[in-house]
Amino acid sequence: AKDPVRVLVTGAAGQIGYALVPMIARGVMLGPDQPVILHMLDIPPAAEALNGVKMELVDAAFPLLKGVIATTDAVEACTGVNVAVMVGGFPRKEGMERKDVMSKNVSIYKSQASALEKHAAANCKVLVVANPANTNALILKEFAPSIPERNITCLTRLDHNRALGQISEKLNVQVSDVKNVIIWGNHSSTQYPDVNHATVNTSSGEKPVKELVGDDAWLTGGFITTVQQRGAAIIKARKLSSALSAASSACDHIRDWVLGTPQGTWVSMGVYSDGSYNVPAGLIYSFPVTCKDGEWKIVQGLSIDEFSRKKLDLTAEELSEEKALAYSCLT
Ligand code: NAI
Repeated sequence: AKDPVRVLVTGAAGQIGYALVPMIARGVMLGPDQPVILHMLDIPPAAEALNGVKMELVDAAFPLLKGVIATTDAVEACTGVNVAVMVGGFPRKEGMERKDVMSKNVSIYKSQASALEKHAAANCKVLVVANPANTNALILKEFAPSIPERNITCLTRLDHNRALGQISEKLNVQVSDVKNVIIWGNHSSTQYPDVNHATVNTSSGEKPVKELVGDDAWLTGGFITTVQQRGAAIIKARKLSSALSAASSACDHIRDWVLGTPQGTWVSMGVYSDGSYNVPAGLIYSFPVTCKDGEWKIVQGLSIDEFSRKKLDLTAEELSEEKALAYSCLT
């Protein structure tokens, strides 16, 4: 039998945490034959609720679950972890300035970076979910210099999956037949959902999404804004933000990263920019990537038209501003 993998979930007493931990314990993230030990971290006001989640994990009798740690101590939570899913963060509350929210999250991600750097397993893979996801990941990277930068990523797979979902609804095709959409940039409303290279598997072979949709006005208008604004639409409907879809997409992100993307398929991940597609180096930016042997690689050589170029640049500008704001909180 395989040795268990230790998976950290921060903010585990929250909404996403509640949807995510059972998925991990069932093998959705790391595969149906991979035992796991869950490390769950939250803050003292949530300690009792966190313990309740632990009780439910025991009650669910998951065969793959070999242990559960529920703690408010970051060092205990981070010790020996192979995968870290960072869902905990400080939410924006009514009347709060952007800078105040940023400042809270910068201090959380700075201290959790140190705990991971000192105590996580070598080669730990990190996925930041909590918003502002790209910039939290960047701060984590800056304050965990011994963790390789390729190991620090943020979640844009939910946006990617939302784009697949919209195309599948529009064309009335199975979502599993749609592939190679791209989310570029920030996990925010400036992200650019790009279908220029996306295809659908049909009975007469692979066809470009653009050709099948045949409605450019929708592809360059309503489609983009629907994906960009989907988070807000979910809040409006549920009075709570996306949780099951965020949890499921976080599992997709880690699974594909660890186990590989299917041949001919790419996915979107927020990763440390190396300057590909003239995106400024030094930002955590969402790119199309393929994964193999536990490593992601940015898909190279895709054509970028003028419309797309502007959108790639716009979301990069927002990320540069966020980065500056985050740095201004450090002093
Ligand atoms: P939630 O408020 O239900 O849960 C957050 C949990 O984090 C709470 O239990 C809280 O006590 C905990 N927490 C706060 N500070 C912490 C710290 N320093 N250490 C450990 N835990 C801490 O929020 P929800 O709905 O679960 O969302 C979590 C985050 O994910 C939010 O920042 C949200 O904006 C973000 N999000 C990101 C998505 C993405 O696609 N990247 C999609 C949906 C949500």
